[in-house]
Amino acid sequence: MLTPLTGQVYEGLPGFEAHLQAELGIPTPSWGPLYYREHPAGRDQGSCFWNQNIWRTPFRLTFGSIAEAAAALRGIQRNWAPTLFTQFRRGALIQAQLPFLSTKPRPFPWTVPASPVGAWTLLDAHTLIASAHCSSPFPGGVITFEEDTKGPPSRAYLKLWEALVRFRTWPGPGDRCLDAGASPGGWTWALARLGAEVTAVDRAPLADRVLAMPGVRWIRHDAFTLKPEDLGPLEWLFCDVICYPPRLYEWIRRWLDSGLCSNFICTIKMQGKPDFETTRRFAAIPGSRVVHLYHNKHELTWMWGV
Ligand SMILES: C[S@@+](CC[C@H](N)C(=O)[O-])C[C@H]1O[C@@H](n2cnc3c(N)ncnc32)[C@H](O)[C@@H]1O
Repeated sequence: MLTPLTGQVYEGLPGFEAHLQAELGIPTPSWGPLYYREHPAGRDQGSCFWNQNIWRTPFRLTFGSIAEAAAALRGIQRNWAPTLFTQFRRGALIQAQLPFLSTKPRPFPWTVPASPVGAWTLLDAHTLIASAHCSSPFPGGVITFEEDTKGPPSRAYLKLWEALVRFRTWPGPGDRCLDAGASPGGWTWALARLGAEVTAVDRAPLADRVLAMPGVRWIRHDAFTLKPEDLGPLEWLFCDVICYPPRLYEWIRRWLDSGLCSNFICTIKMQGKPDFETTRRFAAIPGSRVVHLYHNKHELTWMWGV
């Protein structure tokens, strides 16, 4: 029997469960690592950021056999990713009867398929919770890439790749990009590889091999004291500066108000306690997305595009 649930299921982030609990107002998980919250009418459902994946349309399925459970999921859509915390053997047998879902490392650029990836778990041998639609386009919110261990001077490029894959677009040849807080140059390396024209701003120098890439220039400066009219117009603004979130917000507001940049990807880095208030201010900018990427640590990623 399939029963729709009226709330949403949230997958916690290892190490940051307390942030999710504070956002949801729930002190402990509901099932394994999963939090279920009913949504009172009118409550803002977009105000939860510290999660790996949100199950947007969950339902409960009570079933008799493994084949019955798998057939029910297959009858809804092709792609299903399990998040098991109990009944591991039974869960593996159900997943084995579902279409193969690749979790191999991806190249970059990579276009994420449009078909949705659902999520499911088992509460006991005959009860399954699942959702056909989730906030993350990746199975269980997880994506890995075919890494380049020689070119980039830091592994920070992985979160930029993930953000661009989620954005579903990226800079092309000749696109003007500002990379604020660029050193040692992982993001600049990733952008220059796409053929973009990159202005890297940082008080610290770029790695020599990144500075030598075609299209790259470095300005030794405090990014926040450079005005939009000094650097724009731009197709893309990237920012990975370590700073208090309100400082980033104030600077980004100036760029948005200037109209001199079309696309933004910025990390909102938490200094000690999470800054929920500034996060909500970023999310309230019309057209914004704020997510915790798989490659983010104690930080969130804000994305905005025209
Ligand atoms: C996390 S690192 C950036 C890593 C970089 N995205 C990469 O891929 O290699 C943060 C950088 O911000 C720089 N930074 C801190 N405050 C800054 C400011 N006000 N203006 C420009 N850069 C700043 C630091 O010097 C540091 O290099």
